[in-house]
Amino acid sequence: MSPLMRAGCMAPIICVIAFLVWAPGCAARYEATWASLDARPLPRWYDEAKVGIFVHWGVFSVPGFGQFSEWLWYWWKSEKRREAVEFMRKNYPPGFKYADFASEFRAEFFNPDNWADIFNASGARYVVFTSKHHEGFTNWPSADSWNWNSMDVGPHRDLVGELAAALRKKSLRLGLYHSLFEWYNPLFLSDQASGFKTQEFVARKTLPELVNLVTAYKPDLIWSDGDWSAADTYWNSTQFLAWLYNDSPVKDEVVTNDRWGKGCYCKHGGYYNCEDRYTPGKLPDHKWEKCQSIDTRSWGYRREMKLSEVMDLPSIIKDLTYVVAMGGNYLLNIGPMSDGMIAPVFEERLRGLGAWLGINGEAIYASKPWRVQTENSTVTVWYTAKNVTIYAIILGWPSKQLLQLTVPKMSGATKPQVTLLDYPNIPLKWAPLTPTAGLMIAMPTMPASPANAWCLKLEGVV
Ligand SMILES: *[C@@H]1O[C@H](CO)[C@@H](O)[C@H](O)[C@H]1NC(C)=O
Ligand SMILES: *[C@@H]1O[C@H](CO)[C@@H](O)[C@H](O)[C@H]1NC(C)=O
Ligand SMILES: *[C@@H]1O[C@H](CO)[C@@H](O)[C@H](O)[C@H]1NC(C)=O
Ligand SMILES: *[C@@H]1O[C@H](CO)[C@@H](O)[C@H](O)[C@H]1NC(C)=O
Repeated sequence: MSPLMRAGCMAPIICVIAFLVWAPGCAARYEATWASLDARPLPRWYDEAKVGIFVHWGVFSVPGFGQFSEWLWYWWKSEKRREAVEFMRKNYPPGFKYADFASEFRAEFFNPDNWADIFNASGARYVVFTSKHHEGFTNWPSADSWNWNSMDVGPHRDLVGELAAALRKKSLRLGLYHSLFEWYNPLFLSDQASGFKTQEFVARKTLPELVNLVTAYKPDLIWSDGDWSAADTYWNSTQFLAWLYNDSPVKDEVVTNDRWGKGCYCKHGGYYNCEDRYTPGKLPDHKWEKCQSIDTRSWGYRREMKLSEVMDLPSIIKDLTYVVAMGGNYLLNIGPMSDGMIAPVFEERLRGLGAWLGINGEAIYASKPWRVQTENSTVTVWYTAKNVTIYAIILGWPSKQLLQLTVPKMSGATKPQVTLLDYPNIPLKWAPLTPTAGLMIAMPTMPASPANAWCLKLEGVV
């Protein structure tokens, strides 16, 4: 019996006790159906957080090569990418196996407090860490991993546990990325050969490990992936989520995404990731998150990464403001090196993001989409709102110091006030474009912004 089934058996007893003591607790139980699970309100912290850091780290960080470097094993073995096949042939002896990379994953410079310090300095409120990618190597001492884990081989450390502890010291929320499938796990391959009629892999690997991760590390977020080859009924996703939401130690605060089986994404689960780098053109009607890697070619570290392939700070801020104005969260990815170092170029981008949020975070954290998301008046503007306050984030400084905003209307009740978040105590001069709408704003001297983005706070407009 899987730990999940054991937990499931306990549920009716707990429910009966809860009913006697506190009946509403029982009424709120979720059933293992999408109709029930999808109706769960998203815990509030997630929407308010807006910014997270995604971290791809694993055995794949050792070869650290090629586009989507975290997929190297698959590119090589399936011969789907010639560059991967060539790379392995040229640089490793015949008979070299992917598993041989694991002993080179030493994490000798991994200092989780340093990581947490950088992540906190980025202004992010949560971190999503690869507990296990498609290669199946677990970054924690999983008892179900047959030694293919970071305690028995490579670092000889509990990477998930160490990072979790460091993040908590900084009050950062812990998210765990988890791949449901594993490319070459014999149990998975055998289930696949049966047309997913058998569930040996799910019973002996996926579910026990998920339950183990939740009970051992109490994550605030589970970022599920690797679901696409089989239906959610193979993965028993709804059963797992019902346990997670009803009976797990994180039942009230945990947030999940939407990758829980073929056809699930953008449709079921918690918030929606949809496809990688999802970029909706209009305001979605469901909470969503865009994940985006600073290295535009890979989630995992690439030793051959060039500066021209790395997002600069203005591109990151532009992407972030678009995402937040559209109601999304922004999950920005870095791939640390196998020795545990974060490349200085990534650190510099993250600290730059944090410096910008230090001034402009008021327009980002806990904001809501406004009635209009964007306009191109003088420069491109993205709007966010907080109660009656409206924020206009401008991507670029207007020439001649004059900025025109056509969308805001006069509320009539109070005289509009405009300030720049860089100079919060200096009201700016403005004139209406028409008697009832639009602002022509006289901008002050341009404050330095390496992000090439500034934010105006508008009060008394609607
Ligand atoms: C986290 O970062 C913020 C903003 O940079 C800083 O004020 C705060 O002291 C940091 N917290 C910790 C625990 O380091
Ligand atoms: C999946 O859920 C079904 C229905 O509850 C159950 O019969 C089956 O044993 C579960 N499979 C695993 C692997 O837990
Ligand atoms: C604003 O301009 C950008 C590029 O100049 C364009 O991609 C975008 O669609 C425009 N948005 C609006 C609302 O007109
Ligand atoms: C919105 O602002 C009004 C006026 O300042 C205030 O009375 C109200 O409590 C605010 N609502 C929220 C949800 O903050």
